[in-house]
Amino acid sequence: MTLLDDHVVLITGGGSGLGLGIARHCRTEGAQLAVLEYDPVKVLALKEEFGDDVLVIEGDVRNLADLQACRAAVEQRYGRLTSLIGAQGIFDGNVPLADIDPDRIDQLFDEILSVNVKGYVLAARTFLDMLTAEEGSIVLTSSTAAFAADGGGAAYTASKGAVNSLVRQMAFEFAPRVRVNAVAPSGIAGSQLRGPRALGLEASRQSDIPADVFRRAFEAAAPLQYLPAAEDYGPFYAVLASRQNKIVTGQILVADSGAFNRAMISANPDSFGLGLQN
Ligand SMILES: NC(=O)c1ccc[n+]([C@@H]2O[C@H](COP(=O)([O-])OP(=O)(O)OC[C@H]3O[C@@H](n4cnc5c(N)ncnc54)[C@H](O)[C@@H]3O)[C@@H](O)[C@H]2O)c1
Repeated sequence: MTLLDDHVVLITGGGSGLGLGIARHCRTEGAQLAVLEYDPVKVLALKEEFGDDVLVIEGDVRNLADLQACRAAVEQRYGRLTSLIGAQGIFDGNVPLADIDPDRIDQLFDEILSVNVKGYVLAARTFLDMLTAEEGSIVLTSSTAAFAADGGGAAYTASKGAVNSLVRQMAFEFAPRVRVNAVAPSGIAGSQLRGPRALGLEASRQSDIPADVFRRAFEAAAPLQYLPAAEDYGPFYAVLASRQNKIVTGQILVADSGAFNRAMISANPDSFGLGLQN
């Protein structure tokens, strides 16, 4: 018996990075799986990797008709859904607000929030009755950028702060039958997180940063000195998405490799203490 035996899990944005790692992990835990992805190249790669074992659907989380088609496909293949995992997202390039032409802000916010926030709302609403019928779970993706400065620019950090609020509101509204939580990752090795069209960064990917540079920067900032692979986040999503989780809802699990647990006194070059001697 594994954690996700008898679970049907849908992952939105599962074509690369985090979502793909979660998909692989959920399979090892015995889940019946569906993945929604809007990039046709990644859809093909998913079909190649998983064959007929996983229901792979091409669609855009911003588009209600695509989500309804996804729902019809899940109903036809599995007849039910126990867990919805939201893993899609786009980045804002970490461009300071002062460097952004005011004319671009409208499009930038529409672009980032439509994927990072509205996509989660539309998916939750589309599958709510199926999840309610199964006493299911929703697990969304926040970020450490929602909790501390400099994990992204204004649009990305605002979008992740909105995910945290959304989790609390939906957890309240959907109780007692559906649990709603999020995981807040910090870094993800191998992520293809892309930039926004509004700033001309749609072709830029996190994977363009040399892997060793990204790893060194991350490991220097985190006490565990370990840049997680996407699969490392899988167990946290799986537990929150499972029926084993009977008591946690409305929470954001901060998975930061210890980065927020900073040294205060000893990090200071003039480090001081009371100097008490025995
Ligand atoms: N990369 C990091 O270091 C990091 C850190 C913290 C949080 N996150 C969050 O993790 C999540 C996953 O990001 P990732 O780093 O794995 O990036 P990624 O680009 O590798 O994965 C995101 C996937 O979502 C898909 N997607 C994007 N927009 C979509 C849409 N409209 N409809 C359907 N699919 C869509 C992409 O094509 C991609 O396959 C995001 O929410 C991101 O904000 C990432």
